[in-house]
Amino acid sequence: MRTVEWHDGVVRMIDQRLLPHRFEVAEFSEYQEVARAIKEMYVRGAPAIGAAAGFGLALAALQSPATTVPALVEDLKAAYDVLYAARPTAVNLRWALDRLMHLVYSLETEDVDAVRQALVAEAQRIADEDVEINKRMAQHGAELVPANARILHHCNTGALATVDWGTALGVIRMAHEQGKNIHVWVDETRPRLQGARLTAWELMQWGVPMTLIADNAAGYLMSSGQVDLVLVGADRIAANGDVANKIGTYKLAAVAKDNNVPFYVVAPTSTIDLQTPGGDAIPIEERDPREITHVGDELIAPEGVRVYNPAFDITPARLVTAIVTEYGVVRPPYEENLRAVVEQAEEDRKKANR
Ligand code: MRU
Repeated sequence: MRTVEWHDGVVRMIDQRLLPHRFEVAEFSEYQEVARAIKEMYVRGAPAIGAAAGFGLALAALQSPATTVPALVEDLKAAYDVLYAARPTAVNLRWALDRLMHLVYSLETEDVDAVRQALVAEAQRIADEDVEINKRMAQHGAELVPANARILHHCNTGALATVDWGTALGVIRMAHEQGKNIHVWVDETRPRLQGARLTAWELMQWGVPMTLIADNAAGYLMSSGQVDLVLVGADRIAANGDVANKIGTYKLAAVAKDNNVPFYVVAPTSTIDLQTPGGDAIPIEERDPREITHVGDELIAPEGVRVYNPAFDITPARLVTAIVTEYGVVRPPYEENLRAVVEQAEEDRKKANR
């Protein structure tokens, strides 16, 4: 199944907290539950969060008892705020919610049910487009992967981080399917271990040769010439090309630069936030100290220790070799070239809606 999907007025999602040991599907019929599922990371990964939030807003439309469009809009605004607050860094969440609200404002109808149906259809479109966009990115990105490449990857950017297929891991999958004989170094990705739990699981299912490493091994691997390129995803890319991604990404980019290893970011245009000028304006989520003090249920630090747990960091644009989008590979100057692909995406969406 897809990571997140709509099924007869219910949102279904793979419960990623349980993987790789248990595969369970959670079902939600209220938007408040979807917001909680995003917060608690049943579903995670920027594009998957965006799609889940979109379905969450569609649920809110079905839940609302409104009999007029203005009353429905008020209920949707309240649901928007709850969903928006679920996780702050991944901009795909705001992007999906805004896209749905724009649709509502653009509809010239007084038929409340027509608005409800339009919202459900648009949320479904966001999910379907995500899969298609990922495959386009994979084609573009695979061109950057030489034969026999040894690739270093951080966090999880696979089918599980999107509706299906994946971003950086989608590029890896495509390069593997093209017979490029690649090998992937999989960062375990402390503290939540998305690499060890999810990326390793996905790559093993796809039959991609891989080796799991401790995050701290990445510097040694690069300095000893065992990495040809780094591929990561993004939670938000500022207008100047600064990239917010899973904590530890900046360290990888700095070491990659020091060793002349190309550092590529793979992300759809929905992850590019032109409203945010640079990385220092991107909100960084801070998560529960328990993610650091515990591995699973086991306490590994002294009881009562003070903890700081930022979930993301900012990689400055100067360390990013290129950004792969569904419109191709974007290189510096990022300010200008990112704007061009975002405008192209908006233009294409308008054309599709005409
Ligand atoms: O905290 P997570 O697991 O949601 O963080 C995910 C990442 O940092 C991914 O690299 C990013 O969302 C891109 S996924 C296609």
